Amino acid sequence: MITKTLFEPFKIKSVEPIRTTTPEDRLRLLENADYNPFLLHADQVLIDLLTDSGTGAMSAAQWAAVMTGDESYAGSKSYFEFRDAVRDIFTFPEVIPTHQGRAAEHLLFSQVCKSGDLVPNNTHFDTTRANLEYLKVEACDIPIEEGIDPISHHPFKGNMDPKALDALLKKEHHRIPFVMLTITNNSVGGQPVSLENVAAIKELVEPYGIPLYIDCARFAENAYFIKIREPGQDHKTPIEIARELFSYADGALMSCKKDGLGNIGGFLAVRDPELASNLRDTLTLTEGFPTYGGLAGRDMAALALGLYETLNEDYLAYRIRTVAYMAERLLERGVPIVEPPGGHAIFIDAGRLLSHLGPESYPGQSLVCALYLEGGIRAVEVGSVMLGSSDEAGNHTHAPQELVRLAFPRRVYTQSHFDYAVEIIASTASKAAELPAMEITYQPKFLRHFTSHFKPSHPFPSEKRSSLTHA
Ligand code: F0G
Repeated sequence: MITKTLFEPFKIKSVEPIRTTTPEDRLRLLENADYNPFLLHADQVLIDLLTDSGTGAMSAAQWAAVMTGDESYAGSKSYFEFRDAVRDIFTFPEVIPTHQGRAAEHLLFSQVCKSGDLVPNNTHFDTTRANLEYLKVEACDIPIEEGIDPISHHPFKGNMDPKALDALLKKEHHRIPFVMLTITNNSVGGQPVSLENVAAIKELVEPYGIPLYIDCARFAENAYFIKIREPGQDHKTPIEIARELFSYADGALMSCKKDGLGNIGGFLAVRDPELASNLRDTLTLTEGFPTYGGLAGRDMAALALGLYETLNEDYLAYRIRTVAYMAERLLERGVPIVEPPGGHAIFIDAGRLLSHLGPESYPGQSLVCALYLEGGIRAVEVGSVMLGSSDEAGNHTHAPQELVRLAFPRRVYTQSHFDYAVEIIASTASKAAELPAMEITYQPKFLRHFTSHFKPSHPFPSEKRSSLTHA
């Protein structure tokens, strides 16, 4: 018999309590956090959908590996396990561990970019863009048109626009040290990139001798989307798809805090031994000896297993289905989201839901505050706070879309947590027209969404329901 219910493919061996709060508590806590949920304490949050990064639950096998991790400074056995897993799955011989994704970004960019260069990407993630801009490199996003259309059902909305890349290469190739593809494409909704697109991009850069790098934080989710959506791929396993995808690339950077199923870690892996040798010199200066690169041996041991567990088809089916389940429930209740949902998150279209607020009023920030006040849910704005800017002369840039991301930690929450979240989101959405404009009262120089302070133009609609409702 084929059942309708797809259950979580794991049993829970260890639990963490969730501390409940009242609406009054949350108003006080959010005021203290200057209306920026990044500044809340995590135990003030009921369901934390801020990020899927480093927030997953490790398996019993991973915890067992933690206990036998080798903490030797040089030549740790855990490094070799990690290196062999990366070589096997990603096909790159040179494996450089880093403490997380952005360290790999900085390491690569400072080695191969110079001021005035230009890097095309389907869409840069915020730290990738910031690390390039820090080196005075222009970060250029060229997603396909459907990628930024919130209701297009294109199966691979994460793709790069090959025509735009072709034009850019013809005009600017002398300024381009490499081309990068982000899989899945986080900033446009965790949308996948097709194998066909990766091959097409490789074909375009090859005549110029320009390398292709892949930012592959969510490579397993991407491989699963290829399996279920790309013609002719359904007979392959996710690991076979991953190997083929990376075979087109010259290197990859990964934040292992996502599809590595680890709480910390990353890597930079390349084919060119000379480049690797130069990168290792800098690594030793900034991160650590080349066989640990800023990680404990136990972390590398856990990641060596996590990189395989993440490719398990039962896990991936459950993972992608969970996100789709929540998306369906939200659409039934009229909440506008980016369709179809991506692999790790649901993006609410705050621009559409709060249509009374223009981008200068930061509708996404207003919505994340309202979700917290309504039911203790923590989400993140992916709109003009994160991707826009303002300078001292009063010039502002805005994001192409005003979104709010609900990211799904891996193997952490169960279906009733998501049902609760749907209730809270739907109830908040029903009051969308009353939500206030937000003003930035303080912002840092880089990555302002993390630490900016905000002020609402008027109070949020008052709370009328209790914080915990059981069906
Ligand atoms: N690339 C992508 C596509 C990412 O999503 C992230 C992190 C990074 C690079 C940087 O990796 O955090 O290990 O330094 N994304 C997290 C998120 C923070 O919430 O989406 P990191």
